[in-house]
Amino acid sequence: MPPTRSREWFDDESFWRETYPFMFPESRFEATAAEITALLKLAKPRGKAVLDLCSGPGRCSVELAKRGYRVTGVDRTRFLMKKAKARAKAARVMVEWVESDMRDFVRPDSFDLAISLFTSFGYFDDKDEDMTVLRNVFDSLKPGGVFVVELNGKERLAKIFQPTTSQRLPGGGWLVERHEIFDDWTRIRNEWVVIKGGKSRTFRFHHTLYSGQELRDRMEAAGFGDVRLYGSLAGGEYGVNAARLVALARRD
Ligand SMILES: C[S@@+](CC[C@H](N)C(=O)[O-])C[C@H]1O[C@@H](n2cnc3c(N)ncnc32)[C@H](O)[C@@H]1O
Repeated sequence: MPPTRSREWFDDESFWRETYPFMFPESRFEATAAEITALLKLAKPRGKAVLDLCSGPGRCSVELAKRGYRVTGVDRTRFLMKKAKARAKAARVMVEWVESDMRDFVRPDSFDLAISLFTSFGYFDDKDEDMTVLRNVFDSLKPGGVFVVELNGKERLAKIFQPTTSQRLPGGGWLVERHEIFDDWTRIRNEWVVIKGGKSRTFRFHHTLYSGQELRDRMEAAGFGDVRLYGSLAGGEYGVNAARLVALARRD
């Protein structure tokens, strides 16, 4: 039985349902094939068993399955998992879908590659729970298996930070984002206001921010031996021009 936990923002299905149109526009799906090509080149998995942790609407799981990988997609949001299942069916591929919290999923010595993409790590109010996730992934990898995490790094955010940003939404309307750094530069609080047809809706969420070094330290503490950082899935250094923080960690 999974432990009883207090409710956090990501437990709210309506957050994922209502933000879906602008979190997952068609352009994000269209970009996935190139992302997966780059990721595979970087990670060079030794076998075909893949864990897609926080698989969401199946963007990466389905792309990997199309390439002959045996994919297990784990996510706790039923709405997104339904989208993922429909996507796999339309693409005529098999994926094992597991509805589970990332803190609970562990399947010892099972995967050649594990991925956590598009800022799916660092959600918990209790930062120790991020360590639980890292240990779960470590245990779930086969020896020689590799874990790729891709998120918005703290260094990049510090460089581009603006308290308020806005963008036009693909289907019309505006997304106004408010950002606030708190907890001694370890977390970000976000408020998204969607303005459409004269009406507005507000979504709030927060998560932990990791610098490259902080993420590497935690991965090493979870048991990973060889942790490398990159500025994108295409590789390149995690330097001043890095667009994303990508950590590649191997289980020795
Ligand atoms: C920003 S989306 C990214 C989805 C996917 N990785 C991608 O690249 O398209 C974050 C995902 O994390 C999932 N998620 C959030 N909290 C979770 C938790 N505690 N356990 C499992 N999944 C969780 C959400 O349901 C959502 O699918």
